[in-house]
Amino acid sequence: MSVQNAIKTQDAKSKTATLSIDGQALDLPVRTGTCGPDVIDVARLYRDSGRFTYDPGFTSTANCVSKITYIDGDNGILLYRGYPIDQLAERSSFIETCYLLLHGELPTAEQFAVFQRTIRNHTMLHEQMTRFYTGFRRDAHPMAVMVGVVGALSAFYHDSTDINDDQQRLIAVHRLIAKMPTIAAMAYKYSLGQPIIYPRNDLDYCANFLQMCFAIPCEPYEPNPVLARALDRIFILHADHEQNASTSTVRLAGSSGANPFACIAAGVACLWGPAHGGANEAALNMLHEIGTVDRIPEYIAKAKDKNSGFRLMGFGHRVYKNYDPRAKVMQKTCHEVLDALGMRDDPLLKVAMELERIALEDDYFVNKKLYPNIDFYSGITLRAMGFPVSMFTALFAVARTIGWIGQWKEMIEDPEQRIGRPRQLYAGPAERDFVPLEDRN
Ligand code: CMC
Repeated sequence: MSVQNAIKTQDAKSKTATLSIDGQALDLPVRTGTCGPDVIDVARLYRDSGRFTYDPGFTSTANCVSKITYIDGDNGILLYRGYPIDQLAERSSFIETCYLLLHGELPTAEQFAVFQRTIRNHTMLHEQMTRFYTGFRRDAHPMAVMVGVVGALSAFYHDSTDINDDQQRLIAVHRLIAKMPTIAAMAYKYSLGQPIIYPRNDLDYCANFLQMCFAIPCEPYEPNPVLARALDRIFILHADHEQNASTSTVRLAGSSGANPFACIAAGVACLWGPAHGGANEAALNMLHEIGTVDRIPEYIAKAKDKNSGFRLMGFGHRVYKNYDPRAKVMQKTCHEVLDALGMRDDPLLKVAMELERIALEDDYFVNKKLYPNIDFYSGITLRAMGFPVSMFTALFAVARTIGWIGQWKEMIEDPEQRIGRPRQLYAGPAERDFVPLEDRN
């Protein structure tokens, strides 16, 4: 079989790609987006040719049409609804960014006030849900608790599980944005054996999250505004990242008509994996292991040695083949947090900065286009704020909830949406007859 592909432009608007299989030519439509590569539409390929496409890891496959987030990995660009991530991190707030991701436009002052008030109205959890926590072991990972509790929301909020009702869909979205910080903070408090701290609606989103994590009932607590602002920025950076593994998981779960709380629980489960949400933890552990600047050359050499099995954690990215635009903002935020906490001389920061400098000048990393990613500086920052390593992925889940639920809502409202049902290249035994037990040897 010879397969050959060529894209030809028929006119300015319609392009086709010609696929030739065993001498048979097949014209496939090519679709063009606002930016980024064209896509070859293979939806009818099986019907017309009896063949599937094969793409493990979906490295060349677009699974949907989306208007939410755009990444140009070669040029290090990330846009939410067209707005560059650095502008949003600098000038917007997480709640405003949630509105933007959800509704497609920045809110007017009035829309923003209404949205903020709506989210605040939903911050508390049904009181009976607190009993779920006591069913877990105290040493349970916060993500284990979150997978369970987020899934359990569908057992409590029946009035927002009808996916065919616009209003119910929107209420589910608001509930998830509002309740995720409460759920994550409660998991943390439970692991410490401390009483749960209820939300305070006079505080903004991240200041409230800090107080739910770090306040105790016997002491007054005022969140540090520099830390609250830094956390807000970290949440903006993590809010969405187009069709990553956990977002695709949410879309796939939702494609069957499952309720939004169950779908987000699936997203939390996928995010938990070390190849996705767990990398900031690995980067922090690596910096600890290196310990001092003089040991960096040893680790650089190890990272370049294929036989060592060691990689520089927080470096490289599947999509970014340039400096991760989120990493630039993260580095600045890291400095601000360490300055505010009087930790400017933090030895881990020194190791990180020197490691970055050396790697960016090293031919191995330059030639392979390996740049620092968002996780390189986020671990140091979160640790300085007082979060234990086990909470890092839970914080990522809180921030990514808007991306998950925004993409879920977009999918449900897309007329082209169908249940996700990939096919396979079967490599098992061909049909054979059953052999009774007594005849088997
Ligand atoms: N240190 C040393 N070498 C590396 C590294 C690294 N961190 N990353 C990639 N390489 C090399 C790799 O050995 C390979 O070399 P060769 O072509 O000679 O075989 C080449 O670069 C390409 O690597 P790859 O694994 O084929 O690239 P990928 O796109 O499949 O992997 C990655 C991307 C992020 C998994 C990888 O760069 C990595 O393991 N990085 C460290 C872990 C990390 O920081 N992950 C966080 C990603 S950002 C989180 C998010 O956005 O959700």
